[in-house]
Amino acid sequence: MDFKQFIRVIPDFPKPGIRFKDITTLLKNGEAYRAAIEAMKQAVEDKRIDLVAGPEARGFVVGAPLALALGVGFVPIRKSGKLPGETVEASYDLEYGKDMLAMHKDAIRPGQRVLIADDLLATGGTISTTIKLVRQLGGEVVGAAFLIELGYLNGRDKLTDIDVFSLVTY
Ligand code: PRP
Repeated sequence: MDFKQFIRVIPDFPKPGIRFKDITTLLKNGEAYRAAIEAMKQAVEDKRIDLVAGPEARGFVVGAPLALALGVGFVPIRKSGKLPGETVEASYDLEYGKDMLAMHKDAIRPGQRVLIADDLLATGGTISTTIKLVRQLGGEVVGAAFLIELGYLNGRDKLTDIDVFSLVTY
């Protein structure tokens, strides 16, 4: 399937010069959404994954169905202040801004094999921070899977020590 045809590109959002890749147009198409998750599943299913972890918010709409398709659990990585239990936290730079991510300390048992999933690999700041948090909890990061990679932002260069899969590259 040509997934790019379902992704809408919106110029100058959220600020001038950025061509925003809008996945809502893919998500609302049941067949395309299902096919995208299935293709991601096939790309990673040989990795003996114990858990999928994904950062809010768009990482949830990719990570949770991917976890279900793989038959494993899902761990939400949230913006600071949202999780009720004890957390580990780390700050990170975004393509446009700065933020803090958190995970429950008991979300991962040491040695569990964790796949990180998100809708988008841009600068790689978000994913590098999630990797740091998962490793801090003793998890083994076995790879990262994305719907979209913005190749021109070179986020992949920050991820030299893990397998990176992306469905669509711009
Ligand atoms: C977006 C996107 C990725 C991240 C990619 O999330 O969903 O998580 O940016 O950018 P990076 O590779 O430069 O870090 P955002 O923080 O906008 O949050 P959202 O999913 O809640 O919209």
